[in-house]
Amino acid sequence: MGVGKVATISGIGIAALSGLAWALKRFLKSRDYDDLDSVVSFSSRLVAGMRAYEGKEKEPLVFDPLAELLAGRRGMQAASTTMQHYEDAADKEAVASKANRKFLVGRVALRTLFMDDHLLAGCKTGARQVVLLGAGMDSRAWRLDLPEGTSWFEIDRTDVLNAKRKVLTKAQASFSADTNKGAKYPLRAATYTTCDVDLGSEGWTKRLIAAGFDPNVPTVWIAEGLFMYLSEAAVTALLKEARSVSPKHSRFLIMAFTSEDVVKWYQESATQTSVAWVKELAVTFKSSFPLDSKPYLEERGWHVASVEFYSDLADKYAHGLPWTSAPGLIVKLGLKDNGKFDTNTAFIDAVPF
Ligand SMILES: C[S@@+](CC[C@H](N)C(=O)[O-])C[C@H]1O[C@@H](n2cnc3c(N)ncnc32)[C@H](O)[C@@H]1O
Repeated sequence: MGVGKVATISGIGIAALSGLAWALKRFLKSRDYDDLDSVVSFSSRLVAGMRAYEGKEKEPLVFDPLAELLAGRRGMQAASTTMQHYEDAADKEAVASKANRKFLVGRVALRTLFMDDHLLAGCKTGARQVVLLGAGMDSRAWRLDLPEGTSWFEIDRTDVLNAKRKVLTKAQASFSADTNKGAKYPLRAATYTTCDVDLGSEGWTKRLIAAGFDPNVPTVWIAEGLFMYLSEAAVTALLKEARSVSPKHSRFLIMAFTSEDVVKWYQESATQTSVAWVKELAVTFKSSFPLDSKPYLEERGWHVASVEFYSDLADKYAHGLPWTSAPGLIVKLGLKDNGKFDTNTAFIDAVPF
């Protein structure tokens, strides 16, 4: 055998071994994240887990019957580390008077109620399409009382959409109004369509339109827990692109971090824990909105109808119950309030400009 041939064979061997190592690494990673490719994808299970914990309360503020299944074992485990026990609330009087809760009202429960309310308000004023951007394990299409004829679209990464479909199929959820009969979780929308596009790249609305989205029908867009994973340029492009296919009576519902400081502070806080997903997730945050989001959104084609912060949502939805004013995990790490807990996340309802 010539020297050249030996070199080629060992070259093939090395390539095969490194391919194997890559596949093994990917396999172990996806086990870490419960069948999902990355910590960003896994954040969908984490949030579903937080919704599931609210549903376990005796008198839940919001109940999502599919949340625990969609969160999966690891999502529930991760969410449990962020929940704050009711007795730990600073307001001892409130604790003494209403002690039938296990956990403080979570920020995810509050944000869920905000999005539910504003989505249904959008439907009341004529929207008949809903598009969830970074839909994750959201189950509103099986939970909300939607007007007849509402088309439902979910955009996310392929791994998330596949994992979600797997869970929902096993739970006997229906994906079409035609198969609702006998389904344990009937679809509440007229149609359900998924689209696996990267929202960080321009041109995603073309794929959405090809999937059946109608640019002439008023639409409620929801970006809940998405924008921090996109660069500022990508968020700008996304807002403009959505605007270009949004007729009158459309709405854009946004949950956004509100300042670079907050993102940096989260990232610094995360270095103080040994929990892998917390460290890995924090470094994926790329951008935030300015605190005054009105001019920012106007430049991008959207007129702000209302901006609220967590304390406003708590006033509206928590009925006087103590709530987690700071992210639960941050409190558990014993980190000090950076003075921005109240305004570090904005909830925005915007209409086409
Ligand atoms: C924190 S989860 C929020 C999920 C859901 N909106 C909720 O509130 O329950 C963020 C979601 O955004 C998705 N996502 C992040 N970057 C994305 C991108 N570039 N394109 C599509 N989806 C993305 C993730 O896969 C994940 O499902």
